[in-house]
Amino acid sequence: MSAPGNRHNSQAPGKLFQFKLVLLGESAVGKSSLVLRFVKDQFDDYRESTIGAAFLTQTIALDENTTVKFEIWDTAGQERYKSLAPMYYRNANCAVVVYDITQPSSLEKAKSWVNELKRQADPNIVIALAGNKSDLSERRVIDTETAQNYAADAGLLFFETSAKKSTNVNELFTSIARKMPLDQLAANSRARGNNLNQRGVDLNHPVAQNACSC
Ligand code: GTP
Ligand code: MG
Repeated sequence: MSAPGNRHNSQAPGKLFQFKLVLLGESAVGKSSLVLRFVKDQFDDYRESTIGAAFLTQTIALDENTTVKFEIWDTAGQERYKSLAPMYYRNANCAVVVYDITQPSSLEKAKSWVNELKRQADPNIVIALAGNKSDLSERRVIDTETAQNYAADAGLLFFETSAKKSTNVNELFTSIARKMPLDQLAANSRARGNNLNQRGVDLNHPVAQNACSC
């Protein structure tokens, strides 16, 4: 039997929901590192900057009956790729906007991504703010309270994370999964005669397009 939030659970019975998640944030804040930690439980001290975007998936069991599969788009933070971002967040169900607690400019950039998501993404998108590199406490310049207050005002989930030390990484993704309206989605999916639900699909009632063998 799987513990709540357990990853790599490919055989959980019950409902399986699938969501598109996008990571946004300034270059070098640790977006790819957070994904690598979440998906493979690994960390590289020397990671190459992402080109364009990378796609990965990860499945988590929320409880014995509920499994969530994230289709993750890890976007490139370098300015020259900025115009590609709408392609990745347009149909996203959830977003992780990342800043680096040692870089003040990265919180400003994160705020501008949040504003853009609120203007242009799905109005129901679930957004989490992640203050990464919490292991670098001696170099911290953004205090927790400042970011937390901003996140509360903006209606965002908030975590300080360390991809390096694996702090709060699973918690971040699990909280997003728990904030998705799963009961409502399951009901909608049944009511629509198993059609694809706009914000995820209940694979107990699969449709050809998104039915997966996960
Ligand atoms: P782009 O792909 O350019 O947008 O960057 P990114 O946001 O994906 O950053 P990436 O994951 O490539 O990490 C940048 C650098 O920060 C790498 O050298 C990582 O090893 C380092 N890094 C990432 N996360 C952490 C962390 O939690 N702590 C520490 N100390 N370093 C980290
Ligand atoms: Mg990257």
